[in-house]
Amino acid sequence: MGIRIAGTGSYVPEKILTNFDLEKMVETSDEWIRTRTGMKERHIAAPDQACSDLASQAALNALDMAGLTADELDFLIVATITNDKVFPSTACIVQRKIGASNAGCLDIEAACSGLLYGMELASGLIRGHKKGKYRNILVIGSEKLSNLVDWEDRNTCVLFGDGASALILQATDDDDDLIVASEVKADGNYGDILQIPAGGSACPTTHETLDKKMHYMQMAGQDVFKQAVPAMVGSCKNVLAQAGVSPDEVAWLVPHQANFRIMKAVASRVGIPEERVYINIEKYGNTSAATVGLCLDEMVRGNQVKPGDYLLLTAFGGGLTWASVLLKWC
Ligand code: ACO
Repeated sequence: MGIRIAGTGSYVPEKILTNFDLEKMVETSDEWIRTRTGMKERHIAAPDQACSDLASQAALNALDMAGLTADELDFLIVATITNDKVFPSTACIVQRKIGASNAGCLDIEAACSGLLYGMELASGLIRGHKKGKYRNILVIGSEKLSNLVDWEDRNTCVLFGDGASALILQATDDDDDLIVASEVKADGNYGDILQIPAGGSACPTTHETLDKKMHYMQMAGQDVFKQAVPAMVGSCKNVLAQAGVSPDEVAWLVPHQANFRIMKAVASRVGIPEERVYINIEKYGNTSAATVGLCLDEMVRGNQVKPGDYLLLTAFGGGLTWASVLLKWC
C-alpha cells in the first residue's frame, strides 16, 4: 500500500491588511517590515469567522480537487493554535460543518509545524492498517492568529495573518509512496521564547492577566530566529540522508513562511539555490500551521509541480517544534 496526495485546498479571508495600513496602527514602516521579513500584506478574518470556518473552506476545496465527498473521509486532523473553543475540538466542529460523518476527529497543537506533524500522524495511520482501515485522511492547518496578537505591539502584530490549508492523504493499492522520508522533532526547553502565557490551566485568565495582556502572543524574535535556522537545516539534511536524495535533486524547498531571511539562510545551508525556494510570504505573512499547505496548494493549482519532483517541506514553530517531510510527487 502506498500514499498519495489526492487533493489540496486553501482559503484566506477577504480582508487584506497591508504594511501601509499597519503604519497607521503602530510605529512601523513598510520598509522595515519588507526588508526584515519579506511581508507586504496579510489576510485578516472577519469577526464572525472562526478557525473552523477557514478550515472548512480549505477542506471543501481539497475534497473538490480529490473528487471525494466528505463522508468518504476516514479521519480528520486539524493543526491549529487558534481553536474555536477549548473544547470540543476544532476538528469536530469542521466535521459537522463539512459533513464528514464517518471521520475520527483530532486537533493537534504543534504551532507552525502542525501541518507536517499532521502528515506524519496521517501517514502512520494509513501505513499501520494494511487492510485499508484508513484510506482518506484530511489534514488541515488553520489559524485565526489575528485574535492572538496584541495590535499595539509592533514586535508581533506585523508578522501574522489568518488562513487555512488542507490536503488529503490517500492510500493507494500500489507501492508508490509520496512520502519518501520525514522527521518530527521538539525541544520543550525553549517553550518560553514563543508563547501565550495565560489562559491555560497553569495561569488561568483573571482580570490581572487580561490587564497585563498575558493572553496575547509573546515572542523573543531573535532567539526564535537563532533556533529556527539550525533546527530546520538539520532536519532537512536528515530527511535527505534518510532518502539518499541530494539537495541538487530537490525541485522545490517549501519552507514555513515566517521570515524570508530564515528561508534563505536554511536554503543556502542545505545547498538549495534561492530560485528553488517557494516563497509567498509577501501575500500572507506568517499563518502558522497553514503556511506550508498554502504554498503547496498554490504550487499544485499553478502547475508548478510535476510527477517525480522531490519537494522538501520544512517548518518550525512554538513548542519548540520542527519537522521536515520529503515528498516525491506522484
Ligand atoms: N517596525 C519597526 N521596528 C521594529 C518593529 C516593527 N514592526 N519590530 C521591532 N522593531 C525594532 C525593534 O524594537 C528593534 O529596535 P531597537 O534596535 O531600537 O531595539 C529593531 O527593530 C530590531 O529588532 P529585532 O527584534 O532585533 O529585529 P530582527 O531583525 O530580529 O527581526 C523578527 C524581528 C522579524 C521578529 C525576526 O527576529 C524573526 O523573524 N524571528 C523569527 C520569527 C519566527 O520564526 N517565528 C516562528 C514561528 S511563529 C509561531 O510558532 C506561532
